[in-house]
Amino acid sequence: MRIGIIGLGRMGMNIARRLLRHGHEVVAYNRTPSKTETLQEEGATAAYSLKELVSKLEPPRLVWLMLPAGRVTGEHIETLSGLLSRGDIIIDGANSHYRDSISRAEILHQQGIHFLDIGVSGGIWGLEEGFCLMIGGDYEVYKKVIPVFESLTSEGGFLYCGSSGAGHYVKMIHNGIEYALMEAYAEGFEILRNSPYQKELNLADIAGVWMRGSVIRSWLLELIERILRQDPELRNIKGYVEDSGEGRWTVTEAVDIEVPVSTIALSLFRRFRSRQEEPFSEKVLAALRAEFGGHRVIKKEEE
Ligand SMILES: NC(=O)c1ccc[n+]([C@@H]2O[C@H](COP(=O)([O-])OP(=O)(O)OC[C@H]3O[C@@H](n4cnc5c(N)ncnc54)[C@H](OP(=O)(O)O)[C@@H]3O)[C@@H](O)[C@H]2O)c1
Repeated sequence: MRIGIIGLGRMGMNIARRLLRHGHEVVAYNRTPSKTETLQEEGATAAYSLKELVSKLEPPRLVWLMLPAGRVTGEHIETLSGLLSRGDIIIDGANSHYRDSISRAEILHQQGIHFLDIGVSGGIWGLEEGFCLMIGGDYEVYKKVIPVFESLTSEGGFLYCGSSGAGHYVKMIHNGIEYALMEAYAEGFEILRNSPYQKELNLADIAGVWMRGSVIRSWLLELIERILRQDPELRNIKGYVEDSGEGRWTVTEAVDIEVPVSTIALSLFRRFRSRQEEPFSEKVLAALRAEFGGHRVIKKEEE
């Protein structure tokens, strides 16, 4: 198929590359032109504006956005909607909020433009391993794009999840689960590192042996083994953990529909905690214990 790709970052570039490898024709646009030029050298048709990208596609056009979610994606969809025609298809592969995707689909529908919301997983490894795609939108529109989905994934790696927003909803929950899994592994390895056996245990070997037949084997664990082999003490890493939104959305969604998500919520809050040097709450705790029980507090000058 012929497809326009907007946004050649870590994900968009690899999506475009995988499509080229599978014989699709890619028209590529990126804000920074050097990335577009790089992909042109690999066989894509270069475009240096959204208008040029649209002009180089045949109706019904297919355009895949792989941009930061929120304002940037919204503005690009708005501009594109003025350039595209009835029957064209916009795909948003960003980690957009599913409610944004529902409203974008409704607005585009009024102009006769189709919209698919796709949650993409697999990270930069997707180029070689195949991405995992969670797809929402009109089923008939989804069916038209199946050749692209087949090329981007390995066997069984894409799923039509349901109507508009369903793809991004499933991706949101996927990322919430990811937070909790990561937290559980991180805590387990911290116990091992502080255990009575700490001088004997090789944490990379433990991750490795757990990968062979154990109940907790996973791709995340495989990555832990790789990381610990390179830098067993993680000396070069600061324990500062960002979040990119989906974990929060999972928790607020759970609150809205009254589902208790203790583990996912805690793993989100642990990320917040990782960014605080010295939380006020812990000073309050220490001061309170001193106040009611005469317990010792460590004064700043004692440190
Ligand atoms: N990384 C992952 O593992 C992963 C996995 C699944 C989904 N996602 C989602 O995929 C999307 C892209 O992620 P990524 O990791 O590829 O990000 P990235 O490497 O940071 O790339 C961001 C892309 O968006 C473009 N961009 C950023 N701000 C822009 C603006 N104001 N106007 C126009 N273009 C702008 C960048 O262009 P320049 O080159 O000019 O900066 C670049 O092409 C995000 O929504 C992310 O949540 C990421």
